[in-house]
Amino acid sequence: MFGHGTDPARDLGFGKSQDDFAKTGDFNFAKVGFDDGKWRALNLPHDWAVELPFVRDEALQSHGYKPLGRRYPETSVGWYRKEFEIPASDAGCRVNLEFDGAFRDVLVFVNGCFIGRNDNGYAPFRFDITDFLYIGAKNCIVARVDASFGDGWFYEGAGIYRHVWLTKTDALHLGRWESTVRPMATDGKAVNLQLATVVVNEGKNFATAAVSWRILDAAGKTVATASAPVQTVNVDGQARFEALAQLSDPALWSVDEPNLYSAIVKVETNGKPRDAERVSFGVRFLRFEADHGFFLNEKPLKIQGTCNHQDHAGVGAAVPDRLQAFRIGVLQQMGCNAVRTSHNMPTPELVAACDRMGMMMMCETRQMSSSPEGLAQLETMIKRYRNSPSIILWSIGNEEWQLQNDEAEEGAKIAATMVRRCHELDPTRVVSAAVNGDNSKGVSEALDIIGFNYNLKFPDDYHKQHPTRAVFGSETASTVSTRGVYQTDPLRNTLSAYDENHPEWAELAEEWWSFYGTREWLAGGFAWTGFDYRGEPTPYGWPSINSNFGIVDMCGFPKDNFFYYKAWWTKQPVLHLFPHWNWEGREGDEIPVWVHSNLDEVELLLNGKSLGRQKVPRLGHVDWKVRYEPGTITAHGWKDGKLALTEERTTTGPAVALKIAAERTEIDADGEDVAILTVSAVDSQGRAVPTADVPVDFKVTGEGALIGVGNGDPNCQESDKEPRRSLFSGLAQAIVQSTKIAGTIEIVAEVNVRHISMEPAKIVITTKQVPLRPSA
Ligand code: GAL
Repeated sequence: MFGHGTDPARDLGFGKSQDDFAKTGDFNFAKVGFDDGKWRALNLPHDWAVELPFVRDEALQSHGYKPLGRRYPETSVGWYRKEFEIPASDAGCRVNLEFDGAFRDVLVFVNGCFIGRNDNGYAPFRFDITDFLYIGAKNCIVARVDASFGDGWFYEGAGIYRHVWLTKTDALHLGRWESTVRPMATDGKAVNLQLATVVVNEGKNFATAAVSWRILDAAGKTVATASAPVQTVNVDGQARFEALAQLSDPALWSVDEPNLYSAIVKVETNGKPRDAERVSFGVRFLRFEADHGFFLNEKPLKIQGTCNHQDHAGVGAAVPDRLQAFRIGVLQQMGCNAVRTSHNMPTPELVAACDRMGMMMMCETRQMSSSPEGLAQLETMIKRYRNSPSIILWSIGNEEWQLQNDEAEEGAKIAATMVRRCHELDPTRVVSAAVNGDNSKGVSEALDIIGFNYNLKFPDDYHKQHPTRAVFGSETASTVSTRGVYQTDPLRNTLSAYDENHPEWAELAEEWWSFYGTREWLAGGFAWTGFDYRGEPTPYGWPSINSNFGIVDMCGFPKDNFFYYKAWWTKQPVLHLFPHWNWEGREGDEIPVWVHSNLDEVELLLNGKSLGRQKVPRLGHVDWKVRYEPGTITAHGWKDGKLALTEERTTTGPAVALKIAAERTEIDADGEDVAILTVSAVDSQGRAVPTADVPVDFKVTGEGALIGVGNGDPNCQESDKEPRRSLFSGLAQAIVQSTKIAGTIEIVAEVNVRHISMEPAKIVITTKQVPLRPSA
């Protein structure tokens, strides 16, 4: 239910006088039985910003023109309410309410009582609500979420956009995010695991606690065990337990083989289990060297990274878990082996997907500050994720102009405090920051390794002057392009998809990778960005509502530069020919034709006639100017004197039918899983029409619902939520979510415009029964 930022009468009466917080237990909207009949029913995670219309207001540009902020009180406050049972069997448990993150300024109430608040938009937060619960009865939780203030200069969403958990434990329990598993190399093939945890006693009696660990391999087989000496844990006290285990010849975690283990940590008293948790971890060894870059498991590995924000087409910041894995998969297809969670701590499911899929991560906190809030965010991030093998380095922040140009030296002091805290909580990883400058002073003094944002002019000199410090590109590129569009037109807010546009501070794909990819001492870098994101429509403004920086668009559809990276970031043979060959009306005009390839030579033909053969420069591309005539352009790619690959682009006829393809046609019937659908249009010969832009309507029936649509067009202001979307450069995406009932979902795509006759398309997704995770 929308509240109101300034008018208490439209905000459940909240704030009508100054004594709202005078009594703890008087908040009637948070009592069982309060009439919420007019409230809308929805499922978490939820982002209401993505549901709002676009508003032309320059102050909203960097956040994607969504009406959030103090000048938009009607759409900036949201109330969430839930009634649920706590069974009698929970008597004696401690119950914690845990938010993985919510945007932003959250006030939490339980059964009429005010519980607490959290203001930042990205770090998880939790409240022990045990004392406020009715056991064996109905309970009510309310959260007031106020997105009036932002945390960043990019689209951030609004609402409870990550999961919320009710965690029930014994009164004697493991401390939250206190269990650590640290693999330490030994001389031989064996690896020592340093195990530690904290036991907290919130019971009425002291406890004699025993802690044990069971280490399981990926198949669930026990491969090691350990236990710590028994300790007494006093009432309201806590104790730290440590042990060592050994893994002989462990399967290492790497980008190619992301082997995972888990540790089951258990606390018992007198042989009775009291609490336990499963910690997922991997065994891998990292090193940054000043002269030789980055090493994973003793082998040099260039970081082929991308920075990414967290929103996706259709769903905004409320990204279903499965979509996290989809996004990582898209990046992996172009050879990206690392992501930077710019500029905030990520959601747990993204980290878990990276652990599972072998994607490395630079994990960044939102606030570069050693204030209590800044340190609390940093500590939470490190404690939450320090067992994750994907994380190779921590970042304490991004482009703090004030702190990095540090006349007063506060930047160096703040950074030093933050770095020290990182080391205390996690002695196994290095700490850096994304610095847009020469790294000569300020925050950089405190960093373990040095990150450069842009500024290719600085790293060489820096390396000469600081030969002992490892260097990487914390943020590079910011190349801008529009998928499937080959003209830069400031009247239409388009940017050609050739690798030729960037803002003045930035670089082309070819420029930055020719720099970072050819210096052995550089560890590699992170391109801005993998995916397009809402907001920051640089170099344009209205009506552009999302960025142009992505190597793939908001849906994950590749732009042509994707294949530049794929050519030079993977070992697969690549031959990517562009643009499309539908240039009706441009007959006789010169059209630039490019090929991204890692083969030795490429020959281009127009309607069977050779236009010449060119050697592919290392880390470059080849191009021709071709006078347009309809037909076919063909590229032959040669490797070691042999024809290795051929690609064609053919002038198509008009689109006559729609097509739908699903990334997976069987999904889980868990109310969470999603089918990610690609809609395209084909001509009478079944060829995809690359310029199709018809409006498509969706009908979804059966055990699922449409939760979002997109097409990757930065200038498209159609709704993300309505069941319709125009194709853009021939493509659109629809995201369909299962219910908890196994069955089928039928999706029909059709064009309902009188003057266009087009065959509809249909696809059926099967949803299969799976064990459901507990939910209230
Ligand atoms: C950087 C900044 C990013 C993004 C980018 C656009 O300076 O760190 O968040 O704004 O510029 O080029």
